[in-house]
Amino acid sequence: MDLGLKQKLVLVVGASKGIGRGIVMGFAKENCRIVAVARSEELLREVGEEAIREGAASFNLEVYDIMETNAKTVAQHLAEEYGIFDVVVHNVGGSLVGRNHLGPAEDWEYALRFNALAAIDMNSVLIPPMIENGGGRVIHISSISAVMLRGNPLYASAKAFLNAYVTTAGRQLADTGVVLCSIMPGAVAFPGSYWDRFVKEGAPRVDDFLRHHQAAGRFGTPEEIANVVVFMASDKSSFMQAANIPVDGANM
Ligand SMILES: NC(=O)c1ccc[n+]([C@@H]2O[C@H](COP(=O)([O-])OP(=O)(O)OC[C@H]3O[C@@H](n4cnc5c(N)ncnc54)[C@H](OP(=O)(O)O)[C@@H]3O)[C@@H](O)[C@H]2O)c1
Repeated sequence: MDLGLKQKLVLVVGASKGIGRGIVMGFAKENCRIVAVARSEELLREVGEEAIREGAASFNLEVYDIMETNAKTVAQHLAEEYGIFDVVVHNVGGSLVGRNHLGPAEDWEYALRFNALAAIDMNSVLIPPMIENGGGRVIHISSISAVMLRGNPLYASAKAFLNAYVTTAGRQLADTGVVLCSIMPGAVAFPGSYWDRFVKEGAPRVDDFLRHHQAAGRFGTPEEIANVVVFMASDKSSFMQAANIPVDGANM
């Protein structure tokens, strides 16, 4: 299927490893022009070399910590440097396992900013020109925890907020040509991931988790998430608006 993404200008925030790296490779195979943001310049350079080998039309890296530098300032720089993006993917986020539900509001605010608000700040800068340009795609990487409401409460709550943002703001945008949506992965494993260490150790909790929570009986791969992101970024998904889509190996 020709997804019509050739030469599209794609921003991936959180692009240096894991799911974000997989998403970059998905767009590289579609011959997109890619701008990749993360904190690790070294990893981004490796991603860039692989992306060009995979077929990216161009690759630019931008080293930013969107929790340290104001996310709106980052977005303003990106807009000045590259112009109007066709596709924006917000992948930064995580379960913050070191913080728990008895922590102070600052911990909850941190989780919310990490998983949703930093991206929303960036959208406040990046989406208005997309609207003027006639459209685009903004895709957030949420989590199945947003609807199952399991795992770290800070994480599940932050991703649930993100889903609500996608649904409500996505409806407001639905007739502008800008499609706002999210993908909710189930547990995904890759070298260096949260689950990777337990898999390598042969820890019993891996089998236990898969048996009880992922009916497919295995972890997903970054590529399996990226395939859906790339489809959502294309015009083929044109009626899939304001949607939060599970890609989760039948999480239960
Ligand atoms: N893995 C899973 O099982 C799973 C399941 C459901 C949902 N998700 C969601 O999928 C997304 C990616 O997960 P992942 O497991 O692939 O995470 P990961 O391995 O921790 O990768 C996160 C990416 O974001 C970048 N990043 C982190 N903090 C940043 C910051 N402050 N500023 C700029 N970049 C930053 C990281 O690069 P640097 O370290 O170089 O900055 C990396 O490229 C997250 O939103 C997560 O909640 C993951």
